[in-house]
Amino acid sequence: MNKVNQICCIGAGYVGGPTMAVIAKQCPNIKVTVVDINQKRIDQWNADDLDNLPIYEPGLKEIIAETRDRNLFFSTNVDKAIEDAEMIFISVNTPTKTYGKGKGQASDLKYIELCARNIAKVAKTDKIVVEKSTLPVRTAEAIKSILDNTGNGVQFEILSNPEFLAEGTAVEDLLAADRVLIGGQETPSGQAAKDTLSWVYEHWLPKERVLQTNVWSSELSKLVANAFLAQRVSSINSISALCEKTDANVAEVSRAIGFDSRIGSKFLNSSVGFGGSCFQKDILNLVYIAKSFGLNEVADYWEQVIIMNDYQKRRFAENIISTLYNTVSGKKIALYGWAFKKDTNDTRESAAIYVADLLLEEQAEIIVYDPKVKEDTIYNDLDYLNSRDPKENRRLLKVVNDPMEAANDAHAIAILTEWDEFKTLDWNKIYSEMLKPAFVFDGRRILEREKMDEIGFKFYRIGES
Ligand code: NAD
Ligand code: UGA
Repeated sequence: MNKVNQICCIGAGYVGGPTMAVIAKQCPNIKVTVVDINQKRIDQWNADDLDNLPIYEPGLKEIIAETRDRNLFFSTNVDKAIEDAEMIFISVNTPTKTYGKGKGQASDLKYIELCARNIAKVAKTDKIVVEKSTLPVRTAEAIKSILDNTGNGVQFEILSNPEFLAEGTAVEDLLAADRVLIGGQETPSGQAAKDTLSWVYEHWLPKERVLQTNVWSSELSKLVANAFLAQRVSSINSISALCEKTDANVAEVSRAIGFDSRIGSKFLNSSVGFGGSCFQKDILNLVYIAKSFGLNEVADYWEQVIIMNDYQKRRFAENIISTLYNTVSGKKIALYGWAFKKDTNDTRESAAIYVADLLLEEQAEIIVYDPKVKEDTIYNDLDYLNSRDPKENRRLLKVVNDPMEAANDAHAIAILTEWDEFKTLDWNKIYSEMLKPAFVFDGRRILEREKMDEIGFKFYRIGES
C-alpha cells in the first residue's frame, strides 16, 4: 500500500472545505490544498476573520485556525494543485439539471466533466482520482473514459468515496463517522488505491468503519442512504397530517414506533418539510436512473417521497392562510428562521423559501429573522423561483436582525428553522408586541404548548390538532 504526501481537492464548498480541514487536522504529514474557481470563496477561506468563513459549521473555525498555512491551503491555482498531488478529490456541485435531457431530475455533471478534462490535461504523474461529489451510478466509468482517452499516458485510478456528513454537524460527523465508504475497481491497482485512501481515514477512524466495495455499489449507496433518510421524514410527515385530524400526537407516535429497535428513533421528527441541497436532488436522480432502466414502479415509489414533502410545505402555508380567516393580504407574518436546519447558513431548498413564496402569492407582508442567513441570500432564493417581479419580493418581504422587531405588530409568527435561540426567546414580551389574536405556527415542534397557551397565543404545532 502506498502512502500519499499531497492531496488536492477541487471544490471549496460545504463538503470540500470541512472534509479537507478534518483530513489536514488528523493527518499533519499530508499537505492538503483545496482549490476553487470562485475567487471570492477562496479569499474568504484565507481571510484573517475566522468568523466570516464562507461556511458556518460549529467547530470549523478552530480547525481552520490550527491547520491553515500549516498543512491546509486554499487557492485558485487549480492546475498547480492537480500537478503536485498524488490524490485528487473532486468535490464540485452536482445540481439537478435545469435543461435538456433529464431536465428537473438527472444530475448535471458538467462541473464533474470539466474537472476530469482538466485533470487529464494537467497531470504528468499517476493519480488517484476520488469522487467525493454525489454522482449517479456508473459515473466513474465516464470519468475514467475521459481521463484515459485524453490523458498523457498517465495511470489514473478512480475511487468513489461519497460523503455522509450532515450540515450543522459536519465536523462532528467527520471526526466520528459511522462509516467511510470507498469503492474501487477489483484489480490489483484498484485495490492498492482503495488501501491508500483507507490509510488516510485510518489516521483517526477504526479500521472496521472503513468499508470497501466495488465502485458501483459505493456510488449507488450514497443515493440510497439519502433516499432512506428522506423517506423517513416524509413517512412521519404523512402521519402528521393524519394526527391533526384524529387528535393523535405525532411526537407520541414517533416515540412509540421509535422504541422498536427495528425501526429506531432517528429521523422521525415531523417538520414543515425537509430541505437542503441533497435530499431532493439525490432522490430525483434515483428516480431518473430507475426510469432510464424502465423500472417505472421503482421510480414512482421514490418520487412519492418528494410529492409528500411538497405537500407538507404547502399544507403548512395553507394552514396559516386558513387560520388567519382565509386572508393574509396586507397582514404581517414573521418568519423565524430561513436556513434549512439549525446551525448552518445554508438555505438551499429550505422549506422557508416555499412557505414564504406561497404567502407572498396571497400578498402577505413577510418579515424574516434568521441568526445566520444574510438578506441577499433570502432575496436570491426567492428571485430564483421566478414567481414574481424581484421588486415585488423586496416590497413585500423585509429582513431584520432582531426577532423582537420581526414580531412587532405581526398577526402571526411561523417557526421554520429549529434554531435553539427560538426556544429561549422572551415569548411574553413577543406576545405583548403582536396584534391580537396572536398566532404562532410551530413548523419545527420546538415550543411547549402549555407555555404558549398560558401566555395567550393561538398555538398551532405540526402534527397536533
Ligand atoms: P458547493 O456548491 O458548496 O461547492 C462546490 C464548489 O465547487 C463551489 O465552490 C464551486 O465554485 C466549485 N467548482 C465548481 N466547478 C469547479 C471547477 N471546475 N473547478 C474548481 N472548482 C469548481 O457544493 P457542496 O454542498 O460542497 O456539494 C458538493 C458535492 O457533495 C455535491 O455533489 C453534493 O451532492 C455532495 N454532498 C453535499 C453534502 C452537503 O452537506 N452539502 C453532503 C454530502 C455530499
Ligand atoms: C443529509 C444527510 O443526513 C447526510 O448524511 C448527507 O451527507 C447529506 O444530506 C447530503 O448528502 O447532502 P443534511 O441535508 O445536511 O444531510 O441534513 P439532515 O440533518 O439530513 O436534514 C435534512 C433535512 O431534513 C432538514 O431540513 C431537516 O430539518 C429535515 N429533517 C431531518 C426533518 O424534518 N426531520 C428529521 O427527523 C430529520
